[in-house]
Amino acid sequence: MSTQEKITHPLIESLQWRYATKKFDAAKKISNEDLELLKTALQLSASSYGLQPYKFIFIENPEVRKQLQPHSWGQSQIVEASHLLILANQLEVGDADVDALIELTAKTRNIPVDNLASYGTFMKTNIRQVPVEAKAFWNAKQAYIALGFLLTSAAELKIDTCPIEGFEPEAYDHILNLKAQGLTSAVVAAIGYRSVEDMTLNLAKVRKSKEELFMTI
Ligand SMILES: Cc1cc2nc3c(=O)[nH]c(=O)nc-3n(C[C@H](O)[C@H](O)[C@H](O)COP(=O)(O)O)c2cc1C
Repeated sequence: MSTQEKITHPLIESLQWRYATKKFDAAKKISNEDLELLKTALQLSASSYGLQPYKFIFIENPEVRKQLQPHSWGQSQIVEASHLLILANQLEVGDADVDALIELTAKTRNIPVDNLASYGTFMKTNIRQVPVEAKAFWNAKQAYIALGFLLTSAAELKIDTCPIEGFEPEAYDHILNLKAQGLTSAVVAAIGYRSVEDMTLNLAKVRKSKEELFMTI
């Protein structure tokens, strides 16, 4: 199937409608209600074991956004989008995270912590086997899943986004003082509304064919 083919399902229409917005309308701001919906979508993202080893950081301060722009290939979305979100992953993950998850699960589902003890041990044993340097990478992968939730949810709400990997994580970490908080910037999302002047607004989607993309074994 070509990406030009018209599919009328609302989900596919939303996914066709969205695109990595290059130029945002700086005058259009996301409402508090929509922002809350996007936050809820991020909160509901799936993560390995449900550990959610990340923080979602909205940069509201325009001065900070200006500071970040030169460390983001100068991309205009950094300063022009209604909202700028840094998806920052934990540098580490371990026993304390598992204990917190077990406690939260017990409280949420109203069950004794002891009932979950063996599952906690199972998680801790598995996570301890992950080499230290691989843990941050594993956590970053969880942050990228949240990015996917965000892009899809925003599209459903007719809110534009641009996922951004074109930035210097070291500079972001320094400017936002992330390392001291056990965090590092994984990926960025600019969120807002497309400008009518965006030259890429009406470009056809470029995607591999399903024949190329899928395998059946
Ligand atoms: C993780 C990730 C990082 C990306 N980084 C950038 C970026 O820094 N700047 C940009 O303009 N687009 C960026 N993109 C957008 C991609 O180029 C775009 O999603 C891809 O070309 C497909 O086009 P579409 O999203 O408009 O359908 C990024 C996309 C992803 C998923």
